[in-house]
Amino acid sequence: MALRIIVLEPDEVLHQVAKEVKKITPNVQKLLTDMAETMYKAEGVGLAAPQIGILKRVIVVDVGDEHGLIELINPEIMSKEGEQFGPEGCLSIPGYRGDVRRAQTVTVKGLDRNGNEVTYTGSDLLARAFQHEIDHLNGVLYTDIAERVYEITPEGEEKE
Ligand code: NI
Repeated sequence: MALRIIVLEPDEVLHQVAKEVKKITPNVQKLLTDMAETMYKAEGVGLAAPQIGILKRVIVVDVGDEHGLIELINPEIMSKEGEQFGPEGCLSIPGYRGDVRRAQTVTVKGLDRNGNEVTYTGSDLLARAFQHEIDHLNGVLYTDIAERVYEITPEGEEKE
């Protein structure tokens, strides 16, 4: 396992479209492992491969619910339902948060690290994390779609 360096805005790689993974190699499995380690160390709830400079369609998510760590290769949103509106942050944009409108529930399909097709349906924070991370694979940051972006203090409060 190895920690990777998180790429920060305005790095160009964050605005590019990531490529589909054609074959799950040990390299891709190591990428998943490293991404999870990097996400936990940074105390995030999700990380997409472009955030460590790798333009592959790979994400990890762990919102602290019963699913634990979710690893997804080539994730796709199959359906969306409802709406939620609330604050969102990104490990690539430290010190900021934004109010973003998202679907309340999404169903996501992808491959696990062994190439098996897996499907997850999540609501609330899990749905938000899926949408945020899959946006990363398309070069979209939450700041591109937020209704308002604001600076926060180290404690996570909005700055006056
Ligand atoms: Ni992000």
